[in-house]
Amino acid sequence: MTDFPLPLFDSWFAEARQAEPNDPEAMAVATVGADGRPSVRMVLLKGHDERGFVFYTNYESRKAEQLRENSRAALLFHWKSLRRQVRIEGPVSKVSAAEGDAYFATRSRDSQLGAWASDQSRPLDSRATFEARYQAITERFQGVDVPRPPHWSGFRVAPERIEFWQDRAHRLHERRLFTLDGDGWTEGLLYP
Ligand SMILES: Cc1cc2nc3c(=O)[nH]c(=O)nc-3n(C[C@H](O)[C@H](O)[C@H](O)COP(=O)(O)O)c2cc1C
Repeated sequence: MTDFPLPLFDSWFAEARQAEPNDPEAMAVATVGADGRPSVRMVLLKGHDERGFVFYTNYESRKAEQLRENSRAALLFHWKSLRRQVRIEGPVSKVSAAEGDAYFATRSRDSQLGAWASDQSRPLDSRATFEARYQAITERFQGVDVPRPPHWSGFRVAPERIEFWQDRAHRLHERRLFTLDGDGWTEGLLYP
């Protein structure tokens, strides 16, 4: 038995913040809908603790639709400068409304307006249509704080499996795997 490796993640994440030229918080999130076909895209990690790893998105997007059908996801960080990856898998839940509101309030006003203007993942006939919507939203919220749209908030991936992969010479890479079962976390090594 061991503890959830939050300190290890924190130290790798801190090193990535120093080493990566941009977006150390960028991670791929893979989902699978009812049709069994996987899909993957990048998002930004906006919070993490012992409960899991949080990203924000549109609840009507394709990824959200897939998560409604199958509430499990896989996350992947690749910190190229450090030659490391972290793989996380587990069930997904929505963050609380209060948590979503608190994070939304930290975003720039432009990003807040963008969250209202975008029908993420829906077909768009032209860029001009989106710009017109953005303009209309800007006018709608003129002079007032932009509230969080009801269709925009966060998902939390609660890890059940987390693997830390470190490049080593001659492809003798190191893989440390932490898994959650019943009573707690166990740690093991994997062949590279
Ligand atoms: C580096 C990077 C970070 C991104 N961060 C987010 C994010 O935090 N939330 C989000 O909804 N989309 C983010 N996107 C856009 C997504 O990759 C994707 O285009 C969008 O969420 C729609 O995905 P879907 O149609 O599979 O739902 C990001 C893209 C890149 C390249």
